[in-house]
Order: sequence, then C-alpha cells, then structure tokens
Amino acid sequence: MEIKVKTGNVLQEPSDLCMLGVYEDTPLPPEVAGLLEPRDFSGRFKQTVLLYPRGAIAPRRLLLVGLGKHDAVSVDSIRQAGALAVREAQALQVPAVTVGVQGDAPLAPALIARSFAEGMELGAYRYHVYRTAPSPEHAFVVESATVYSRASAEEVRDGIATGQTIARGVTLARDLVNGPGYTMTPARLGEEALELGKRLGLAVTVLDEAQLTEQGFGGILAVGKGSMNEPRFIVMEYGSASDGTPTICLVGKGLTFDSGGLSLKPAEAMETMKSDMGGAAAVFGALQVAAELGLPLHVVGLIASAENMPSSTAYRPGDIVRTLSGKTIEVLNTDAEGRIILSDALFYAQRYEPSAIVNLATLTGAIIIALGPHAIGMMSTDQALADRMIRAGEASHERVWQLPLWDEYHEMIKSEVADLKNLGGRPAGSITAGAFLAAFVGDYPLVHLDIAGTAWVDKPSKAYHVHGGTGVGVHLLTEFLSEYAQDKRALAAAAG
Ligand code: BES
Ligand code: ZN
Ligand code: ZN
Repeated sequence: MEIKVKTGNVLQEPSDLCMLGVYEDTPLPPEVAGLLEPRDFSGRFKQTVLLYPRGAIAPRRLLLVGLGKHDAVSVDSIRQAGALAVREAQALQVPAVTVGVQGDAPLAPALIARSFAEGMELGAYRYHVYRTAPSPEHAFVVESATVYSRASAEEVRDGIATGQTIARGVTLARDLVNGPGYTMTPARLGEEALELGKRLGLAVTVLDEAQLTEQGFGGILAVGKGSMNEPRFIVMEYGSASDGTPTICLVGKGLTFDSGGLSLKPAEAMETMKSDMGGAAAVFGALQVAAELGLPLHVVGLIASAENMPSSTAYRPGDIVRTLSGKTIEVLNTDAEGRIILSDALFYAQRYEPSAIVNLATLTGAIIIALGPHAIGMMSTDQALADRMIRAGEASHERVWQLPLWDEYHEMIKSEVADLKNLGGRPAGSITAGAFLAAFVGDYPLVHLDIAGTAWVDKPSKAYHVHGGTGVGVHLLTEFLSEYAQDKRALAAAAG
C-alpha cells in the first residue's frame, strides 16, 4: 500500500473514506458532534461508527474510531485504529483512505504516523495462498492511504517508512508461520534464508544433515531423526564485527512441525503445530528489518530447524543425546524437543563472542497458562539485558514479563544418568526450560523469550491480527536492536 503524508485537518480533505480517531474524554469536533446522537457513541476504545456527513465536512464517509481516554493512548491503540480503517475500506471496497486523530495526541507525530502505517499494513494482511476463490472482501486491495498530521510532512515521513518496514518484516514472519508443515520444511526454510540473504546482502550458510553429522550437532540431529524431512542449521549474518561494532545473536526455534514425536501430542494440541517455528520466523523478520533500516550492528541469526515426528527412526524417551557442546541430555519426553535443538544453536552462538544472545522459541505450553496471549515470557542471565528487553516490549507493545532463573530451577533439570534431563516436571515448566537453555551459553548474556502464547492466534483480539501467525517478536527485536545501536553509538561518541 502506498502511504502518503499531509499536513492539516483530515476533516477538511475530500475522501471516499476518512477515519478519525477520537477520545472518550474529549468533546468531539463540533462539525462531527452534529452528525450523531451523543449517546450512540462514547469513544471508548475500538468502538466504531460509520457516518455519511452529507456536505457537513469534506469526506464522503466518516469512520469514527474510539481511542479511549486521551492520556492512555498508546502506539497500540493507534495501530489498531489504522487496522480498523483499512478493514472498513476493504469491506466497503474503497481503494483510498485518509486517517487522522482528533486534536493533539499524547504521542509524537512521527510515532503516530509510524503506528498508523504499521497498523494499516498489518490490518490489510491476509493469508489466502490456498484459497481457490477469495471472497470479494478478501481479494480487495486498498491501494493507498494518507496520514494527516499536525507536524510537517518531513517530520513524519520517516516514521511512515519505518512503520512500513516493520510491517514487511512482520508479514514475512507471518507467511513463514502460516505455510503448512508439508511445504515449509527445514530444507525450505534454508532456501528462504538463502533468498533473503541474496535480496539483502546477508551472508547465509545452511548446514544439511551430512554437515550436521560431521560437525556434531547431536541435538538437532536427534530431534530430526524421526522425519524424512531432514533437519537444517541456518546462519544468517548482517553487518560485521569490524571496528568494535557489537554483535547480537538472534537464535530461533524452527520446528516446522511438532507432533511431539513418540511422546505424541493429542490431536487437538497438534492442530497449530506448524507454528512451532515462530521463533525462527521472528529472526527472519527482524534480520530483514535490521538490514532495511541499515542498523549499525552485527546481527547473527541462528536457526535450528527440524521436524519432530514419530517413526521407527525417531529418538526415544530414555535416549541420551550428546550435543554440540559435548554436554549430554537424557530424553524423558520427546515433545520437549525445542530445548534440545536450541542447545546446539545456543552453544554455537558463543563463537561470535556476542554482546548479547536473544533466543526466541515457542517453547512451552506452560507459558500460555502463565501469561495467556498478552505477554511474552522472558528469562535472562543478565538483568541489564533483561531491562533493555522490557523497554523494547513497552515501546513495541509486544510486552515481555520476566520470570526468575534461580539456582533451584537448575537443580530441577539435573539427570541421574546424563548432564541434564529435558524434563523438569509440571511445576515451573517454562522456567526449567529457560534454565536448560542457559546451560549452553557459558557466561554470555542470554535473554530467552518464550513466545508459545503469542506467536499464533485462533480468534484475534487485536484489529491488526488475523487467524494464524502473528509475527510476534519482529517489532520487539526491532526496538531492541535500534536502542542497542543508538546507545552504542552514543557511548562511542562520548569516548572520543
Ligand atoms: N512446541 C511445544 C510448546 C507449545 C505448546 C507451543 C503450545 C505453542 C503452543 C513444545 O515443544 C512442547 O511440546 N512443550 C511441552 C514440554 C513438556 C513436554 C515438558 C509442553 O509445553 O507441553
Ligand atoms: Zn514439543
Ligand atoms: Zn515444540
């Protein structure tokens, strides 16, 4: 979608569909107030009403979207208002929309424009690769949008571009997650990585099963053994560590399908398990955004990818796996496979001597029980790093909530026969998984994000989501990396 910027009042510009975000606790502009019965519309968050102004104001149709209380307006409310505008345009088959907010919003104009852009692009997202006949509403494409702002066009244009760049990264992640397991195999993920590398000038290496065997990736191999779709390990590198540029490793769980293996999942739990590569998808999306924004960082994406299947070649409960690190893992439940493949990727990350390792994984059902779909579970070995991620979560509204990694949790995953066991029991299921991961990064600062509750949505509660992959993590990582780059630049400048 083409998104333009104009300075001025959106109500004074002709348009086939105009969306105005209004507040619950601020009187409507008089020319709008006259168009409706005051009791019909309060402006509460996400309330909408469609009006036909008949000459009172310039637009032909006016969609009012409630933003809630003025002081509580966030990037998320603007994003959702943008998404609602585009959805209305799709429903009415209007190819061009104009959007704006009433009066002064409590956010910088560039941030409003950016959030509108992101919300409109993501609100338009549909996955209909496999539909033979999309409904007219689904097939309709909104071609252009104009954001009206009080600030000058120069000031907000960058914000729009950034919002669109982030939305493209999220879209990439959603498409990867939504691809069915039989096409989106580990090998296919490897091909997608090579293609991304070509497009963005990233250095990409994909290790196949023979190379994994040769190099001792015992964790990835064990999990992948049960499937005829061979596992892969993917390295995607943006930038370089020359002249003190800090290195950040982004590690993603890329289970293209998780049946549970011999510890087979019940049918219902398996329905959405093509999404078990949501962590890997976020790494793809974030690398694309980092490259397109030209962030002054060295970002290394590491993806461990396999398909977890039951078969006579599958790994079993009771098996002991020797991982890339040399550490051994007693397998008690083949469905706790994410931590096993990630152990190899996390150990591998150390060779880059990174300033931070960020792991993203749809790792545990327990995190859904703890936080539901509204927060990412976070565990970290470094509080300063965790605090950075919390800030990025607030800024992106992909919020994270920290859980502890105390020594007692490490005790829960000690094995009688190997260095570690892959099951800590039901209590603190998400934390013992995080503690397991932390055993493979040495002293490098690790932040682990459990996105099992947020990577997939059945019935969306956000206007910019649709059934399927959410692309969670892309915006969060973008904020995290941008702030990291900014701080390092400021530090370097201060030093000389
Ligand atoms: N991929 C699942 C976790 C998951 C569950 C993601 C629901 C998204 C939605 C993971 O591999 C898994 O099966 N974890 C087990 C671990 C248990 C056996 C210790 C779980 O959470 O039940
Ligand atoms: Zn599993
Ligand atoms: Zn899994």
